[in-house]
Amino acid sequence: MKMLVTGAAGFIGANFIHYTLKHRPEYELTVLDLLTYAGDESTLESVRDKITFVKGDICDKELVDKLVGGNDIVVHFAAESHNDNSLRNPWPFIQTNIVGTATILEAVRKHEKRLHHISTDEVYGDLELDDPAKFTETTPYNPSSPYSSSKASSDLLVKAWVRSFGVKATISNCSNNYGPYQHIEKFIPRQITNILSGVKPKLYGKGENVRDWIHVDDHNAAVHTILDKGKIGELYLIGANGEQNNKTVIEMILELMGKDKSDYEHVNDRPGHDMRYAIDNSKIVRELGWQPQYTDLRAGLEATIEWYTENNDWWQAKKAEVEAAYAKQGQ
Ligand code: NAD
Ligand code: DAU
Repeated sequence: MKMLVTGAAGFIGANFIHYTLKHRPEYELTVLDLLTYAGDESTLESVRDKITFVKGDICDKELVDKLVGGNDIVVHFAAESHNDNSLRNPWPFIQTNIVGTATILEAVRKHEKRLHHISTDEVYGDLELDDPAKFTETTPYNPSSPYSSSKASSDLLVKAWVRSFGVKATISNCSNNYGPYQHIEKFIPRQITNILSGVKPKLYGKGENVRDWIHVDDHNAAVHTILDKGKIGELYLIGANGEQNNKTVIEMILELMGKDKSDYEHVNDRPGHDMRYAIDNSKIVRELGWQPQYTDLRAGLEATIEWYTENNDWWQAKKAEVEAAYAKQGQ
C-alpha cells in the first residue's frame, strides 16, 4: 500500500512516519514537505533510507498531481499551524491551508484516491470555563483566529468535495498534541527550552485558558484506526480527556525540572485567545474501538522534558529567532 504523507518534516507528521514504520511496515511511504521554518529534515534522518522524501509545495498542482497519482492513500498533515504566527501574518495560512488543501483535493478527485485530512478542534471556537459541554462532531464551526478559520475552510472544502464529487475522504479534528519534535514556538516545548536556557517560562494573561492535551502517538494511532475502519465521508474528533489550564501545566513543568513552581512570568495575552477546548471522543471510541494509551500527562511531560534535554542540537539553533519574534509582542 503506497501512502503519500504531506507535512511529515513537521511535528505530528514526522511522529506519524516513525509510528507507521514501527507499527505498520506494510506501507510504502512518500513524504511531501516544503521545509518551511517549521519543517526539519533531520527529524526523518534515521529513517531516510526507508522513505521517499520530496521537497515541494502542496500548492504546486503539477507536483501534487504526479505524487497523488502514484500513491493509493494521502494523509494530509501539511499546514501553517501556529496561532500566534497567523496573528502576525495570515497570508501563508490562507495559501497553504486553504489553497494547498484544494490542490490536494483536486488531485485525489482526478486520480480517485483515498484522502485523510488532518484538522483541529479549534474549528469549533472555544467553550466557557464553567461549561460542562465538550466539542462533538455536531458542534457548529465557529473559529476565532486566522489559523483556525483557515483550517475550518479546509474542512469545508473536504466536505464539499465528498458530497459533490464523491471523493473518498475522512477528516479528524484533534486537540492539543505534545511529544518529541514539536517546534519550540509551541507552549510546552517553549517552556521546557526556556528553563533549559535559564529563562523563565512565559504564561499568556492569567493562564486560566484550558487545553485538552493528547500525546502525539495517541493522535497518530487514532489516524491509523480511521484509515483502517473509518467510514468514508465521516469526521471524527480525537482527544484523550486531558483538560488542564496553562498555569497548571507550567507549574508541572517547573516542578518536574526541579524548579520552584512559581518561577514563571506573566506576559501579554494572545488577542482573541480561545478560553477552553474539550473533546468528547465517544464517537471514535464507540464506533472504531480506539482508546488513548498515554493518559498520564505528568508522565508524558516527564518523557518530553527528557527528550528536549537530550536533544539540545535539534532545537538550540531555532531558539533565538523564536524568542525575538515573541519579544516584539511582549510575549
Ligand atoms: P508543524 O507546523 O509542526 O508542521 C507543519 C509541516 O508542514 C512542516 O514540516 C512544514 O514544512 C510543512 N508545510 C508547511 N507549508 C507547506 C506547504 N505549502 N507545502 C508542503 N509542506 C508544507 O505542524 P503540526 O503541529 O505537526 O501540525 C500538523 C497538522 O496537524 C496540521 O494540519 C495542524 O493543523 C494539525 N493539528 C495540529 C495539532 C497540534 O497540537 N499541533 C492539533 C490538531 C491538529
Ligand atoms: O487545539 C489544537 C491546536 O493546538 C492545533 O490546531 C494548533 O496547531 C496547535 O498549535 C495548538 O494551538 P494552541 O494555540 O492551543 O497551542 P499553543 O501551543 O500555541 O498554546 C497553548 C496554550 O498556551 C494557549 O492557551 C496559549 C498558551 N501559551 C502559549 C505560548 C506559546 C502561553 O501561555 N505561553 C506561551 O509562551
